[in-house]
Formats: sequence, structure tokens, C-alpha cells
Amino acid sequence: MLKIAVIGGDGIGPEVCEQGIRCLEALAASEKFEYQATQLPYGGQRYLDHGMVITATEIADLKTKYDAIYLGAVGRPDVPPGVLEQGLLLRLRFELDQYINLRPVKLLKGISTPLAGKGPEDIDFVVVRENTEDLYCGVGGFLRKGTVHEVATQEMIATRMGVERCLRYAFELCGRRKRQPGRDKKVTLVGKTNVLTYAHDLWQRAFDEVGQDYADVTREYHHVDACCMYMVTKPEIYDVIVTTNMFGDIITDLGAAIAGGMGVAASGNLNPDGAAPSMFEPVHGSAPDIAGQGKANPIAAILSVAMLLEQTGLVKEEEKLVKAGRKLEAAVAAVCPKFAGQSVDRLEMSTQQVADLVLGAL
Ligand code: NAI
Ligand code: MG
Repeated sequence: MLKIAVIGGDGIGPEVCEQGIRCLEALAASEKFEYQATQLPYGGQRYLDHGMVITATEIADLKTKYDAIYLGAVGRPDVPPGVLEQGLLLRLRFELDQYINLRPVKLLKGISTPLAGKGPEDIDFVVVRENTEDLYCGVGGFLRKGTVHEVATQEMIATRMGVERCLRYAFELCGRRKRQPGRDKKVTLVGKTNVLTYAHDLWQRAFDEVGQDYADVTREYHHVDACCMYMVTKPEIYDVIVTTNMFGDIITDLGAAIAGGMGVAASGNLNPDGAAPSMFEPVHGSAPDIAGQGKANPIAAILSVAMLLEQTGLVKEEEKLVKAGRKLEAAVAAVCPKFAGQSVDRLEMSTQQVADLVLGAL
């Protein structure tokens, strides 16, 4: 029994999750596995109604009672910034030790990219972003706050253990990943070693040392600024990118843009050891501008279900789930040519109609 905690969240979150669950239901029937989806009320609305985000007991329940978490999006214009990001999203990542943020950058056939002359064979890589350290730990503080002499610091954390487990995941993923024909296995470390001479020196040394264990994988290093340029001018040079939390956050939005847009970008916050559940979510937010109108593209949320099935199947060693995930991904790829010439964020179809197409392909 696959036990999934569903946090629909705010805005379009619950609308797109509903379509993802429809696909899950269809797959469970055809691939013969059982699942249980439990809806949980966390998000901006609960904060406004009750002044709280999530309790320690609820976090403990998430940790022990579920195999995976499926999240829509959280955030409302009337909730102050930071409340849900730190109180829910970052808290779950840290407490469930979801130390990898996995974001495929894959242009599906039929989806248009803003990069002239580039096609699906050029844009097909994956970003492995470290998800528990760096500038996101909340280490820092104020001195003389509110005065003209105010000082604010925010510290960048890199631990040998945290960096090494992330690098090892990237090399392992590179070994098993399906890539474009004729391409070599390659892991590119993206950092800023010329300026961040302590934290990124540790990254570079760990990268070279861990890489020795993967002799068939080519290693490459790019500064983050150069990487942004190459992602636009020659994205085909990338296979697996491994990077820090902050840089990963930024370059994956660029990645989502070159692969078509927010409407099709999926991500996973992984605890690859399976010690706690992983969390899968579309990259987009709650899109208050289109919420409640049936206009949201559910593809990103549906691809997040595909990733949930595949990753949970890998951790639990259940081939059936891995197969179901890949089948769903293939169904999405099969319907994307129908969106040719349209913007993925403004499809001429309703949320439900898009999901109906995927269900038809399944
Ligand atoms: P957003 O991703 O919600 O929206 C940006 C633009 O993309 C909007 O024009 C929206 O209509 C469009 N868009 C997004 N997803 C779409 C979809 N599936 N189909 C069609 N169009 C789509 O980002 P924004 O506006 O910066 O943030 C809105 C709220 O979401 C904020 O409260 C923010 O904090 C929150 N947020 C939550 C995230 C999460 O839960 N992981 C991630 C990003 C933002
Ligand atoms: Mg982001």
C-alpha cells in the first residue's frame, strides 16, 4: 500500500493536485497497485484561519505514516512573505532530511522553448540541488537593527557530509539516467570557486575525490554565471548539474523557462535513503492571478506524480511503481504535441481537459 500525504495548499495548488490524483487512480487500476491519498489542510488558508502553520506532532506524523508527500503550492497575497516558506517548505525539507532537490530540465516534443534553434535533443539535463545547507539554514543576525549603523549577516554553510552525500547522489544518478543517444555521462559542478574560496573550495575538493569512484563519468566545473550563459547558448553540453542550494534555486527557474515554462516544470525534494518521505511538487507557486478559473496547466503537477511514483518505487524497491511513473511520463510526452504553438502557461484548454488528454493517453 502506497501511502501519500496530499497537501493541496493554496490557489491553483488543490486544482492541479486533483488532476494528478486522477492520473494516480487510473494507474493504480491498470498497473495493479494500491494507494491511499490523505488530504492535509496545511497552507496559507490555515494560517489565516488559525494563526498556525504546522505542529511538531503533524511533522512527526508526516515522517512516520506516509511513503511520500504530494504538494500543490502554498502562498497567498495576504500571508506575509517567509511564513510558509520557512514555516512549512523549508521546515519539511530540513526535518525530513530531504537533502536533494531534483529538477529535470527536459523539453518535451511539442512544447516551445524561447531558445531559437534548440529542440528536445538539446534541452535534456537534470539539476541536482543541495537542499539542506548553504544560505538557507537561517544562520545570521542583525546588529544595531534599525539604526544607520545596522549590520545584517547571512551565512553560507557547507559541511563535508552534506556536500559529499549530494555529490554521490549526482554521480549515481548520472550512472543510471537515460540520456540522448551518443552523449557521454557527465557531471558538471556549478559554483563560484573564484570568490567563495572556503565553501566552494570544499565543494571542489569533495567533487574531485568522490568523482574518483565513478571513472566512467566525465567531470566538469562551471562558474554559476557562465552556466547561466551556457544554459541559454548551448544547453546540450549539460547532462547532470550538481550545485548548491542558492545557485540551484536560481538556475532551475532558468531551466524551467528554457524547457517551456512553469506549467510543465516538476520537482522532487528527496530523502534518497528512504529514512523519511520525499516530497514532490510542481515548481510553480499558487498563481493567485488564475486561481479558481480552471485555467491552470496541470502538467507540472502530473509530472510530479510520475516522479513520485518512480522515486518511491526506487526507494521501496517496487518495480511496479517505477514502471507506473515512467508510463505516466510517457503519456504526458505523448500529448504534448497537441500544445504546439501555444504557451504552456496559457493553454487554450481547461485544467480538466488537459488532464483528460493525459488520461486518454494512459
Ligand atoms: P507563480 O508560479 O504562482 O506564478 C507565476 C506566473 O506563472 C503567474 O502568471 C501564473 O499565472 C503563472 N503560472 C504558474 N503556474 C501555472 C500553471 N500551472 N499554469 C498556468 N500558469 C501558471 O509565482 P508567483 O506569482 O511568484 O507566486 C504566487 C504565490 O505562490 C506566492 O505566494 C508565492 O510565495 C507562492 N509560491 C509557492 C511555491 C511553492 O509552494 N513551492 C513556489 C513559488 C511560489
Ligand atoms: Mg525558486
